[in-house]
Amino acid sequence: MQAPINRRNWLKYSSLAAIGLGVRVPTMGNEEGVLKSYGAASGLVNLSSNENPYGIAPLAKEAIMNLLGEANRYQYNIASLQTLKKEIADLHKVDVKQVLLTPGSGEALGLLPRHFSKGNLVTAFPTFGILPTTAKKMGTKVIEVPLTADKKHDLGAMLAAINSETALVYVCNPANPSSTMLKPDALKSFCIEASKKAVVVIDEAYIDFLEAPDNESMVGLIDKNPNIIVVNTFSKVHAMAGLRVGFVIGNPTYIKALEDNYFARAQFGMSVLSMTAAQASMKDKAHQKMSIAKNEIARTYGYNELKKLGINCIPSYTNFLFFPLGNYAGNFAEDMLKKNIFLRSDTYYGEKWARASVGTLEEMQQFISVMKETWKG
Ligand SMILES: Cc1ncc(COP(=O)(O)O)c(C=O)c1O
Repeated sequence: MQAPINRRNWLKYSSLAAIGLGVRVPTMGNEEGVLKSYGAASGLVNLSSNENPYGIAPLAKEAIMNLLGEANRYQYNIASLQTLKKEIADLHKVDVKQVLLTPGSGEALGLLPRHFSKGNLVTAFPTFGILPTTAKKMGTKVIEVPLTADKKHDLGAMLAAINSETALVYVCNPANPSSTMLKPDALKSFCIEASKKAVVVIDEAYIDFLEAPDNESMVGLIDKNPNIIVVNTFSKVHAMAGLRVGFVIGNPTYIKALEDNYFARAQFGMSVLSMTAAQASMKDKAHQKMSIAKNEIARTYGYNELKKLGINCIPSYTNFLFFPLGNYAGNFAEDMLKKNIFLRSDTYYGEKWARASVGTLEEMQQFISVMKETWKG
C-alpha cells in the first residue's frame, strides 16, 4: 500500500510533466494524505492546473441531479444524451459526423498521435504536453520549434520545420503554458499551408477566453482543408475539469477512423452525468459570461501586481499567467508550495519560468501577498 502523502513530501511523487510544466507534483489520487492537505480547507491556494474556480453552471448541477436516478444505465441507453454530439455540432456549425466525444480533451490529445503515427510531429516548445509526450512514447520523432521572444508560436519556423516525413502538426491556441494567442488570419494561413503536407491539430481549450474577432475557431477551415482537426474541452470556461468532457471536430473520414479506434459509436468512455452536464452547460450562457468576466478582473489584478514587482509577465489571453523567474535561485514552485501557493515552474532553454492559474480575486490577492514576501527581484 502506498504511504500517505502530505504536502511536504508531495514533491517526491510522480511528475505531471506530461500535462504542463515539469515541476514534480503529486498524483491526485485518492490517498487520504493528499485529500487532507489538498484544497481550500488546508489553506492551499491551488493555481496549478488552470481550473475554473467558479464551479460548474447551475443548470449543469440541476441536470446532474435530475439524471442521477439513471446513472445505472450506459449512455447509449438514455435517449436525451444522444443529442449531445448534435448540439456540439450545431454550436460549431458542422455535421454531427464530424464530432467525436472523449472523456476530456486530454484523451483526444493522446489518441491523435497514436492514430497519426507514421511520420514526425512538428510542434512548439514549450507547449501543452500530452500530445508531444504521447508521440515521444510511441517512438515518433518530435520536432520542437522554440517560441518567439514574446512567447508566441513561431509560425514561420514551424512551417519551415515541416518536411516530407511530417505526419502531424500541433498548435495550442491560445497557448499553454505561454498564455499568448495567434491572430486568426495568421493562424488560418498557417493551417491552410501546413495542412497541405500533414494533419494539423489545433487545440482550442482556452479559445472562449478570447474576445471577438480573435476567438475565431479554425473549425471553419475544415470543409475546404480536410487535414485540419480541432480539439476542445468543457474543462475551462464550462468549469467541468472533473467531469471530463472533450471533443474533436474533423472531417467525417478522420472522425470515423478515430471513432473506430475508440469504442466505435458506443462512446463507452463517456459518463452519463458528464454528458448531461455538458448539454446543460452549453445553455447556461450567463454562467460562462460570469466566469470570463471574473477571470479577466482577477487576471488583470495579478498581471499588474506582478509588473509592480518588476516581473515581466507575458500578457495573458487565458486563465493563467506565465512569467520569467530571472535569476531566482532554487525551485520556485517548491518554495511557493511551502507557503501554500501551488503553481508550476520549469526551465526552458536555460530560462526559468512560472505558470500560475488565475484563481478568484481573493486567491490572487493571497498569491500576490506571498509573492511580495518571496520575490527578491
Ligand atoms: C491546452 C490544453 N489542452 C487540453 C487540456 C486538457 O483538458 P481536459 O483533458 O480537461 O479536457 C488542457 C488542460 O489543462 C490544456 O491546457
